[in-house]
Amino acid sequence: MGQRMTTAHIPGSGNNLDQWYGHYAARTAGLAASEVRALFAVASRPEVVSLAGGMPFVSALPKELISGAIERVMATRGAVALQYGSGQGMPALREQILEVMALEGIRAGVDDLVVTTGSQHALELVTKLFINPGDVVLAEGPSYVTAITVFKSFQADIKHVAMDEFGLIPEALRESITQIKAAGKTIKFLYTVPTFSNPTGITLTWERRLEVLEICRSNGILVLEDNPYGLLYFEGQPPHAMRSVEEDGVVYLGTFSKTLAPGFRVGWALAPHAIREKLILANEAAVLSPSSFTQHVISEYLDSADWKGQIETFRGVYRERRDAMLAALGDYLPDLSWTTPAGGFYVWVTLPDNIDAKSMLPRAVKELVAYTPGTAFYADGSGRNKLRLAFCYPTPDFIREGIRRLSTVINGERELLNTFSQTTALPVMRPETSMSNPPANLG
Ligand SMILES: Cc1ncc(COP(=O)(O)O)c(C=O)c1O
Repeated sequence: MGQRMTTAHIPGSGNNLDQWYGHYAARTAGLAASEVRALFAVASRPEVVSLAGGMPFVSALPKELISGAIERVMATRGAVALQYGSGQGMPALREQILEVMALEGIRAGVDDLVVTTGSQHALELVTKLFINPGDVVLAEGPSYVTAITVFKSFQADIKHVAMDEFGLIPEALRESITQIKAAGKTIKFLYTVPTFSNPTGITLTWERRLEVLEICRSNGILVLEDNPYGLLYFEGQPPHAMRSVEEDGVVYLGTFSKTLAPGFRVGWALAPHAIREKLILANEAAVLSPSSFTQHVISEYLDSADWKGQIETFRGVYRERRDAMLAALGDYLPDLSWTTPAGGFYVWVTLPDNIDAKSMLPRAVKELVAYTPGTAFYADGSGRNKLRLAFCYPTPDFIREGIRRLSTVINGERELLNTFSQTTALPVMRPETSMSNPPANLG
């Protein structure tokens, strides 16, 4: 009979909460769960309008297109689709991915691609290949939250580079590089989402793309271009991908998550030869081979369905939701400022200086609306008075209702802060400190 081990049996280790505390690798220090995670569990209740998560609206994809593809795969090559596959990914699918990328001006060879388990996994593999603890990753400020998690999990030193309404600011990039080099640190890559960025929705202009590439080239810095949203444009095609003009200095990440469905978990990396060889080995070490089954199903779908027409359908759905969100912001919160995305999933809102979006979130969830606080998108605590709103999932009516609820919360917060700022007898009740305890109603 096995005896259950208690903390006392493990030499020099745990505590009452975690018997393995003290055994974890140092890199796991970067894997702290965010404080807003628990709230998001509440926010997923149906009565809450969630403007928080970036979930694609997969219901706009006719299910029979997928069930038909699955049936044909099983009837014609079921045994192969259920088997392990190549660590680099299925050659036929890689050919088709070339066609997808050609829509954004990218020309490449089928051998240059590695299929991964979503682009998230490609992000992790590239980070694993390049980052030693303390190495610098340059990233837009703000940046995709789960990229920050990956970089932290490899103990990278994340340095944000400022952006404006035209994307990353080249001059700010130059200055950061000079400062970091002067401090004797090694910059391994620039991580960028240049088209319809997550979380801002902003797109880097073509001129700036060329300038950023030139700056990175002349400083020996690799560019990691992450482009999940580029084909989801609402006003006409955005500038071509950075990879379309620079082969040797760019690793490009793509995915079927937003143009088809994230449940397949199929993405890819397009990388210069030497990097790609290492990526294949790292991919094999991590997963042996990406899912053969979902690669076959996607390949069959691309062969048989009007996939470009389906992307057009998605554009229409998201354009309508973007419009609903911008109109509602204009109606309910006219004195705030926000970005106007020409594609993608997100609007980035700036609150008055003294409002802390993270502290306000419990109140918002109580009013049955959720968003993502701006601090989630920075590694350095910036973004307190910012928040990200995702318009991809709720219907236009729900979006409008969500913004109405949000306006109630923001206006309530303003009143509260005005009251405190006029009460000289309560000098310690500054917004930062007054919010540090959870509100009683959520306690
Ligand atoms: C900027 C960015 N990169 C990568 C990903 C991950 O996507 P995937 O589903 O391909 O792993 C996302 C998902 O939201 C994203 O917004």
